[in-house]
Amino acid sequence: MARWQRTHTCGDLRTDHVGSEVVLNGWIENHRHHGAVLFVDLRDRYGVTQVVFEQERDGALFERGRRLGAEDVLSVRGVVNRREQPNPDRATGEIEVVVTELEVLAESEPPPFEVLDVPEASEELRMRYRYLDLRRRPVQEALVKRAAFVTAVRKHLASLGFVDIETPVLTRSTPEGARDYLVPSRVHPGSFYALPQSPQIFKQLCMVGGLDRYYQIARCFRDEDLRADRQPEFTQIDLEMSFVEENDVLDVVEQTMVAAFREAFGIELAQPFPRLDYFEAVSRYGNDKPDLRFGIELVDVGALAAKSGFQVFRNAVETGGAVKGLCVPGGGERFSRKDVEKDLGGLAGAYGAKGLAWAKVGADGALAGSIAKFFEGAAGHELCGVMGAKPGDLLLFVADELRIVHRALAELRLAVGDRLGLRTPGEFRFAWVLNFPMFERDDETGGWASSHHPFTAPVDWDLEDYSASPGTVRSRAYDIVMNGWELGSGSIRIHRREVQERVFRFLGIDAEEQQRKFGFLLDAFRYGAPPHGGIALGVDRLITLALGAPSIRDVIAFPKTATATDLMCQAPSGVSARQLEELHIGLSGKALRPDAEGGAGS
Ligand code: AMO
Ligand code: AMP
Repeated sequence: MARWQRTHTCGDLRTDHVGSEVVLNGWIENHRHHGAVLFVDLRDRYGVTQVVFEQERDGALFERGRRLGAEDVLSVRGVVNRREQPNPDRATGEIEVVVTELEVLAESEPPPFEVLDVPEASEELRMRYRYLDLRRRPVQEALVKRAAFVTAVRKHLASLGFVDIETPVLTRSTPEGARDYLVPSRVHPGSFYALPQSPQIFKQLCMVGGLDRYYQIARCFRDEDLRADRQPEFTQIDLEMSFVEENDVLDVVEQTMVAAFREAFGIELAQPFPRLDYFEAVSRYGNDKPDLRFGIELVDVGALAAKSGFQVFRNAVETGGAVKGLCVPGGGERFSRKDVEKDLGGLAGAYGAKGLAWAKVGADGALAGSIAKFFEGAAGHELCGVMGAKPGDLLLFVADELRIVHRALAELRLAVGDRLGLRTPGEFRFAWVLNFPMFERDDETGGWASSHHPFTAPVDWDLEDYSASPGTVRSRAYDIVMNGWELGSGSIRIHRREVQERVFRFLGIDAEEQQRKFGFLLDAFRYGAPPHGGIALGVDRLITLALGAPSIRDVIAFPKTATATDLMCQAPSGVSARQLEELHIGLSGKALRPDAEGGAGS
C-alpha cells in the first residue's frame, strides 16, 4: 500500500480507534481555524471526519494546512483523538484525527458553488458542474439506493429463472407513442437507425426464440415533451414471459417489488397489491392511477341530480353527462369558503370543469354552501345519505360530461388528500389496474390509437371487426400504480399473426406498411410463437417516488434538462462539416443558423 493510501474511510472512525495511527483520504468540506488550531472537515462517500492541525505540534505543517482550500483532495496521516466537544450529528463526531503528515493529492480551484446537503446554487449551475454536485451526500445516497434496488431486482429475477438479455440500441422504430431519436448510417447513405423507445419487439422475439423468461435493465429513448417525471432517456425494468396469463406476470412483479423494497429500502409493502378493473378504478377514483393511501372516493349522484332543482345538475344528466361528488370528512372546518371557491374551484376549472358545486354539512344535517338552496330539508338529507356525509363534512360536486367529471374530481381528490395530510410520505400503496380499453381517441389526429401499444392482446381474440364500437373493446393490458403514479405498464401480447394484422389494419396500418415496419415480427409469428406477456417498470420514476425526491433528475447521475440538453457536456451539439458529409447529411433552414437551437451546424 502506498504511504498516502487510506487505512480507513472518512466514515469509519469511532472512539475504539482512539490512540491509533490512521491515514484518511478525502475532499475538504470545511476549513476553519481558531488561533493556533486548524480544523478541517474531510469528506468522502462514507462520511466526514474532523482532522486537526496544531501549530504547537508542527508549525510548518500548520502553515501548509492554512493554505488549503475547499475541495482540495488530501491524504492525512495522524492519530485518533477523543474530541473535547463531540458532534452528535455525525457518526464520527466523538473523535478527530490530529495530523502528523499531509499530502495534497490534488488542489481544487475555488469551486463555482459550495457542496452542501441543501444546495444554495441554482440547479442549472449544479448541472453544469454535475461532478461537483455528485459530491453532495443526498445525491450520492440516492444513487447508492438506486443501485441497491436494481441489484435486488436482478437478484430476485435471476432466482426466478429470468435471463438477462441485451437487446440492440441501434435498431428500428418501436412504437411506444413518442418520436424516435434517429442515428444516421454512414455506410448506408440516407438510412437511419432508431434508438429504441423500449425493447418491446425484441423481447417478444426472445419469446419466439424460446428463451421463456427474459429481463433487462433497459435504457429507452423517447423524443417527447418532457415533464417533471420524464427524461428523454430513462431506464426500465423490462421483462417478458412465455406460456403465461396476467396473474403470472403480476405475481412475479409483485414478489419482485416486495423483495427489492425490503432489501434495498427496508420497507415492507402491504400485500397483496389490490387489483382493480380499469373502469372500476376510473369510476371510483376518477383516473387509472389511484392513490390508495386514502379513501374519499367518487360518488355518483346522477339520480338525485336529475330530480333536483339545480339546473346545472339536471342539464348535465339530461344531456348524457354525469354528476359526481366527493365527501371530505371534517372538510367543513378545514376548508374556508375561499379555499373551496378559489383554490378547489380554480383547480376544477383548470381540469375543464365549468364550476365546482359545494356544500358543508351543519351540526343539524342541514346544508350550507353554493347548492344549499337546491337541497333543503329532505333533499339535503337524501344527498348526505348517498354521499355518506355526516355533520362537519364538505361535499364537492362536478356536473359535466363524464370524462371531465372524472378528470376534475380525480385532481380535487388528490388536492384534498394533500391538504388533509392523507398522502403520507413514506407509505407506499401499490395497486394493479387491469383490462384497459384496447383503443383510445388520439387527440391530435382524431382517429383511434392503441391505449398501450399495438402488440397488446384483445380480451376477445376472435372479434373479427373492431370498428363497430372501438371504445368498448377491452385489452389484456395492465398497469402497476403507486400513490397516484403509473410506475409500469404491460400486457399479454398478441401471438397470432392474423390477430396482429387485424389490429394493425384497424389502426390504419396497411399491408405494405405492416410488412415494411413489422414484417420481421409478423414473419416470426409464422414459426410458432408461444402465448406470452410482460411488463416494463420505470426505474427512475420508481426510485424518485420511493425516496420522495422532488425530481426525477435527483435519482439520475447525469440527467438532462427539460429541453433534453446535458448542460455539463453540452449535448446535443453541432458537428463538423466533415462528419456531416460522411453521414450524407445536409442541413437546411433553422439548423443552418448559428443561433439555431441545439447548436447543430455550428
Ligand atoms: P410504457 O411506454 O408504458 O410501456 O413504459 C413503461 C414505464 O416506463 C416509464 N417511462 C418513463 N420514465 C421516465 N421518462 C420517460 N420519458 C418515460 N416513459 C416511460 C414509466 C412507464 O410506466 N414496452 C412497454 C412495456 C410492455 O408492454 O411490456 C412500455 O415501454 O414508468
Ligand atoms: P351558478 O348557478 O352559476 O351561480 O352556480 C352555482 C354553483 O354551481 C357555483 O358554486 C358554481 O361553481 C357551481 N357550478 C356551475 N357549473 C357547474 C358544473 N358544471 N358542475 C359543478 N358545479 C357547477
